[in-house]
Amino acid sequence: MAEESTQPAEAGEPGDSEEQVSAGSDGAVVGSTDHFGASAVREEIALEVEDLRTYFTTRWGTVKAVDGLSFTLRRGETLGIVGESGSGKSVTALSLMRLVQSPPGHIVGGRVVLNGRDILELSEGQMSQVRGGEISMILQDPMTALNPVFNVENQVGEAIKIHQHLRGRTLLDKVVHSLRQVRIPAPESRMKDYPHQLSGGMRQRVVGAIGISSAPDVLIADEPTTSLDVTIQAAYLRLLREIQSETGLGIIFITHDFGIVAKMCDRVAVMYAGRIVETGDVRQIFNHPQHPYTQALISSVPKLEEKTERLYSIEGQPPALYNLPPGCAFAPRCPYVMDVCREEYPPIFDQDDSQRAACWKLEDGKRLEDATMTEAAAAPAGAD
Ligand SMILES: Nc1ncnc2c1ncn2[C@@H]1O[C@H](COP(=O)(O)OP(=O)(O)OP(=O)(O)O)[C@@H](O)[C@H]1O
Ligand code: SF4
Ligand SMILES: [Mg+2]
Repeated sequence: MAEESTQPAEAGEPGDSEEQVSAGSDGAVVGSTDHFGASAVREEIALEVEDLRTYFTTRWGTVKAVDGLSFTLRRGETLGIVGESGSGKSVTALSLMRLVQSPPGHIVGGRVVLNGRDILELSEGQMSQVRGGEISMILQDPMTALNPVFNVENQVGEAIKIHQHLRGRTLLDKVVHSLRQVRIPAPESRMKDYPHQLSGGMRQRVVGAIGISSAPDVLIADEPTTSLDVTIQAAYLRLLREIQSETGLGIIFITHDFGIVAKMCDRVAVMYAGRIVETGDVRQIFNHPQHPYTQALISSVPKLEEKTERLYSIEGQPPALYNLPPGCAFAPRCPYVMDVCREEYPPIFDQDDSQRAACWKLEDGKRLEDATMTEAAAAPAGAD
């Protein structure tokens, strides 16, 4: 089976991926074969998140899984949230859906403004209309999202009934329409199938159909392709982009794979230990990452033209979120660490209109060289 590379393509150079991300003349990211990317982004804000904080009370202490997250998502835009395991990506998604398990979790602060309303202020009754209606989510494992004892028609139909109050023939037509939107062949007969009768790719499409059936403004896709093989994964990613260009959906795409970010996203937010450490236009971040952690993540994406022995892996483990060190959480692993890093959390420094990063190395308008982490790691820690 042909494997599809997830490596990022260099700006202005032909890449190896089937659909490259390429830089337009104004530097905007445009898709070379369709309308995905910044070219399809409308200017209106779909979602605005401000200083979101979600903590878990555990016997070890307070786990600050999401600690002061702020970002915006425009209509028609795909924002990637990328970071290592345990960095708080899924807790962010669950917080936006108001599905954090409580106890032990609590959203302790912040605002999540969707269509002009702070959804953290809504009653649970109001939220159940918003959830799946204006904002919805696709999970990593379709088997946990689908109920094995109901057929496809029931499961897609249920979501539509709740949010659009349709019944009878109109409901059935809408189910068929939703399945068609996710390119399920012969939807009239496939909707009688149960989850176990479908392939993994088809199951994931059904989950996608449920997610978009109520024409939400925002779709959160939390590692939606992890359980799929690479060819089906590529087809599913393409499908999401097609649906986006048809509907103007804003997508938050969660992944640990920077290669997928390169193909899917317009902008990216890099998370480390519950915080965003860098955000920016995806091409800018790929070519000139400014936070050492972003550099490390990008350096650890395999490149076809390089031999595997040069593959960089980030030394050390992410910190326990109930016991974060003072200062920058990346300090114990950072080859550029300085004394100040261990004492005080770095402020966010603007790099240009789109790119911002929280790192002391960027103070006073300085920039981090575009050195690879393999070279940086060879330098003695603390070398300035
Ligand atoms: N119910 C819970 N109780 C206590 N801690 C939790 C709970 N759920 C999540 N956490 C903690 O929150 C942190 C962030 O978890 P999260 O699931 O968001 O990580 P992630 O970035 O999605 O990782 P992955 O890439 O593995 O999916 C982790 O340290 C995790 O242990
Ligand atoms: S603030 Fe210091 S420790 Fe943190 S990423 Fe920047 S240089 Fe490294
Ligand atoms: Mg997760």
